[in-house]
Amino acid sequence: MTTVVALPRIIQGGMGVAVSDWKLARAVSIAGQLGVISGTALDTVLVRRLQDGDVGGHMRRAMMHFPIAGVADEVLKRYFEPGGRNADQPYKLIPMYKQRVSVARQQLTMLANFVEIYLAKEGHTGPVGINLLAKVEMPNLASLYGAMLAGVDYVLMGAGIPREIPGVLDAFAEHRTATIRFDVVGLAAGESEVLSFDPLEHGMTDGTPLTRPRFLPIISASSLATTLARKANGRVDGFVVEGPTAGGHNAPPRGEPRFNDSGEPVYGERDEVDLAKMRDLGLPFWIAGGAGTPERLRDALAAGATGIQVGTLFAYCEESGFDPELKRDVMQHAARNEVIVLTDPRASPTGYPFKVVQWATDGNDRPARERKCDLGYLRAAYKRPDGRVDYRCPAEPVKDYVRKGGTLAETEGRKCLCNALLANIGLPQLRANGETEPALITSGDDLETISTFLAGRTSYAAADVIGYLLGE
Ligand SMILES: Cc1cc2nc3c(=O)[nH]c(=O)nc-3n(C[C@H](O)[C@H](O)[C@H](O)COP(=O)(O)O)c2cc1C
Repeated sequence: MTTVVALPRIIQGGMGVAVSDWKLARAVSIAGQLGVISGTALDTVLVRRLQDGDVGGHMRRAMMHFPIAGVADEVLKRYFEPGGRNADQPYKLIPMYKQRVSVARQQLTMLANFVEIYLAKEGHTGPVGINLLAKVEMPNLASLYGAMLAGVDYVLMGAGIPREIPGVLDAFAEHRTATIRFDVVGLAAGESEVLSFDPLEHGMTDGTPLTRPRFLPIISASSLATTLARKANGRVDGFVVEGPTAGGHNAPPRGEPRFNDSGEPVYGERDEVDLAKMRDLGLPFWIAGGAGTPERLRDALAAGATGIQVGTLFAYCEESGFDPELKRDVMQHAARNEVIVLTDPRASPTGYPFKVVQWATDGNDRPARERKCDLGYLRAAYKRPDGRVDYRCPAEPVKDYVRKGGTLAETEGRKCLCNALLANIGLPQLRANGETEPALITSGDDLETISTFLAGRTSYAAADVIGYLLGE
């Protein structure tokens, strides 16, 4: 007999890095909807929280439950500082991810994802999801397996074509090895590279199967949904249909690129998703991007959607991971209609348009940041002339990028999102010159009209967002 599990009306969209961490996802799940943690860069988040003394003890409480013996102890020994770092001490870094990394490095990523899902699920029975970016390829397998060890219920993945992920979830549910294609620039015709992860290498031999989470790709064209529904290597359980007003990364417009006077990409009719085609696929779907009003929820249901995915409204609630000072500052400006949300086609090293919030005290008048690449989540792999695989990011120091065969034009306007997104959540790296890494806040266009929702409030909880959307 199959059990029918009710699908959520509202998905709280995954927001990286750790804007949607366990606290937000847990609050949303307790309120009866789908809370989603962002799985991006959680290994760095974990080791920084530990270096800051693990206030509240949450990391350590969850780490104790990690099923692979010795891993948590090793990580604590290396990174935990009981009283927190000295104010003038930079964070210790972890080795950047590569095609092949040590067992210990994989285990750190598994542990970090396990911890976040464990905490998001603690003390209630609501479902919890994890969001990963297909483009941040290298840590994804270890992240997924770690999240599955903690019983993650949904996997949501955008920024790429995650055709092989259903098969990965099927394999990991049985602790089997998963191998997926690895994007490497400059491979010769017929040549291929792979990413592989073997649970047995980590001693997972007890054989008790894991729950196979539902898989929801995030797409911005019905054609991609059709491809995934028909050609993925396993079950796809539904889709999030995301439009270009959404916070975070957006899909680029189709056709010849055109830009408005502010340099933003211009979207047109061709970028609208054909909802009739979505309905024809017969799978549940959720509408995302400017969908955070009761009216838009009603429209979505009338169009045959199961519900909506919302990010921006949740990004500013009490439980979100944004640094409290930054959150307050942005909200105060937004309440007075003094924020601009710009779709920046250059900022993200991924090459996708990225939404950037601008406001009077956003720090953009600071001197330009000196380029440095020490987190490396957005590095892309390329084949060197000697045949070896190496890594480069267009936001790294220009001379390094060009030495690695990248073009100067590619580096223009690129921002180090890795360091900025950690600054957004209050974990900025401290540099030798005494400066801390600058923040770069992303939100959807809805931030410009958040004053309607705020109605004079200066703070609100995740449950308030849900109550508002459901018209309660
Ligand atoms: C601060 C922030 C960070 C985000 N980060 C991610 C991310 O890491 N991965 C992802 O798939 N979507 C990300 N998103 C998009 C959300 O998951 C969601 O789809 C989107 O915010 C919905 O549109 P809305 O902003 O109009 O509510 C982010 C959105 C925001 C506001």
